[in-house]
Amino acid sequence: MTVESTNILVISTIEELQKKLNRNERKGATVGFVPTMGYLHEGHLSLVEHAKEQNDIVVMSIFVNPAQFGPGEDFESYPRDTERDLRLASEAGVDILFIPTVDEMYPTNSGIRILPGKLACELCGASRPGHFDGVLKVVLKLFNIVDPDRSYFGVKDAQQLAIIETFVHDFNLRTAIVRVPIVREDDGLAKSSRNVNLTTVERSEAPVIYKALQIGADMFGNGAHSEEIEQQVSEWIVSNSSGKIDYVKMLAYPGLGPITVNTNEVILACAVQFSSTRLIDNIIMSTKGGSHVSNDDEQ
Ligand code: PAF
Repeated sequence: MTVESTNILVISTIEELQKKLNRNERKGATVGFVPTMGYLHEGHLSLVEHAKEQNDIVVMSIFVNPAQFGPGEDFESYPRDTERDLRLASEAGVDILFIPTVDEMYPTNSGIRILPGKLACELCGASRPGHFDGVLKVVLKLFNIVDPDRSYFGVKDAQQLAIIETFVHDFNLRTAIVRVPIVREDDGLAKSSRNVNLTTVERSEAPVIYKALQIGADMFGNGAHSEEIEQQVSEWIVSNSSGKIDYVKMLAYPGLGPITVNTNEVILACAVQFSSTRLIDNIIMSTKGGSHVSNDDEQ
């Protein structure tokens, strides 16, 4: 099915999208790709903005990928609103919106998997077994279908970004990966489609996550050890919200190994479980010089 809206082309089949984006048809026009699971917010729109600046054609996908949700996770309750997404994508200047069905993306039940290896052993990978297998599966499919020159990923999903960058490098995939900074609400909460599933009380508590990370970043700047920082950040979140800590962890970035004398950048990352919503956030800091490198948009 193809829907021509005012300035956006909506495509739902792989065949049609591949025909449209065929490199011979493109005639040298560059393609910037923004993969999403929809329920768009300013974080996604910032990815589009970066893609528009650097490419002739911007393609966005919206697909809530069942392969990256584990049993008991929020696949069913993940927010969806295609009409709203279509409007926002169109206003942001997306040229082609790809919205496939699950059957279109996964027509067979082959069980073939891509294993992300040791980068997926820490952080979200440790608490969501199989999650990054599912991310790599869909991302590889999307890269093969869209064949983008550049693909845009938010630093908020820092582990996903590190795994995808490594995957693209190790498997000589053609796309370049562009890192886009975290976009935050005025109160500091990182923008996320899942924020809408917080209760009113949880939404008022959730900014403590970033506040705690900032405290951790200041401690890091003052020479504190990672264990001390992790403990302080956890305690701050637990004492100021109803959220339960999944993890608070400092690691080398993007290698996600232990911090050593050779580490240039570190990530202070956390995941916090509220009643039905799990939120993640992070700050990436340089080990050179006192102040931390913000991965946030300035606002
Ligand atoms: O970051 C996301 O929204 C998803 O993990 C992605 C990259 C679109 C794959 O489903």
